Amino acid sequence: MTHIRKVVFPVAGMGTRFLPATKSIPKEMLPLIDRPLIQYAVDEARAAGIEEFIFVSAAGKGALEDYFDTAAALEMTLEAKGKTDALRALAPSRMPEGALTILRQGKALGLGHAVRQAKHLIGNEAFAVMLPDDVIKGPEGALAQMIQAHKKVGGHMVATMDVPRKATSSYGVLDVERQDGRVFHARGMVEKPRPDIAPSTQAVVGRYILQPSIFARLADLGPGAGGELQLTDAINADLQNVGVSGYQFAGERFDCGSIQGFVQATAAYAMDRADLGHAFVKFLNTRLEPQKMLTKTGQTYPFG
Ligand code: G1P
Repeated sequence: MTHIRKVVFPVAGMGTRFLPATKSIPKEMLPLIDRPLIQYAVDEARAAGIEEFIFVSAAGKGALEDYFDTAAALEMTLEAKGKTDALRALAPSRMPEGALTILRQGKALGLGHAVRQAKHLIGNEAFAVMLPDDVIKGPEGALAQMIQAHKKVGGHMVATMDVPRKATSSYGVLDVERQDGRVFHARGMVEKPRPDIAPSTQAVVGRYILQPSIFARLADLGPGAGGELQLTDAINADLQNVGVSGYQFAGERFDCGSIQGFVQATAAYAMDRADLGHAFVKFLNTRLEPQKMLTKTGQTYPFG
């Protein structure tokens, strides 16, 4: 039985889809309501029992690195002013001593290359990889669900969701051998296959539990889909040593790497917040009512 203690967060991406906002703010620091995107992934990792957090970062990500540091001056000011609520709001951004390591990827050669940077920090134990762009909302964290299932299944495990066939070319896709409840035992994975050749519609979402044997495969990996060093290819190359399965988590996934996904996640979280939800839904209704009227008459709502 493996205890998963470490997580790797690949956070070196430039976030070009969010320009100009990401010109001077790392994508992971864009606020989803009042917390930066990265906080959601870190919270999910903590809820799954993760103790060590490894960020594979890049130049220009200083704000992300500072976020998990102590803000001594800010904390002193808040304390002096007796602003206990504001002080409490800082709690999730604190890391216990020694729990955080920040690496630099150096070159943007792909997800496989990013994970490879953490080899010397992982050693000989199974570990998690989380892509913070994939925000998963649900009563129980997706990684905690996976770790639970992984205790029985072992091997490499990826989070999956069922997608429409036309969407397979945006994801890694499992070649499913057999299904056992939420677990999909697989023969392998294909990175971003065209819908007509996709082996299934079980798409990989950015949560992985990997065995340390992955590093030997990552070491001699050549370019794959999109010319990048793909984690998917390393998992496939390791299949003679270790099996691979998908875990179809319970929860809703938002692609916060896209503007549409980010806006939808913002709406979903706002609607569920006790302090915001009621007024926000009322506001949405005032916008939606005229749209419904227009739809009835065949006209479109004048967005934009
Ligand atoms: C990465 C993975 C892909 C996975 C996706 C999930 O792709 O390579 O297998 O389905 O994340 O978000 P990316 O979206 O970074 O191109």
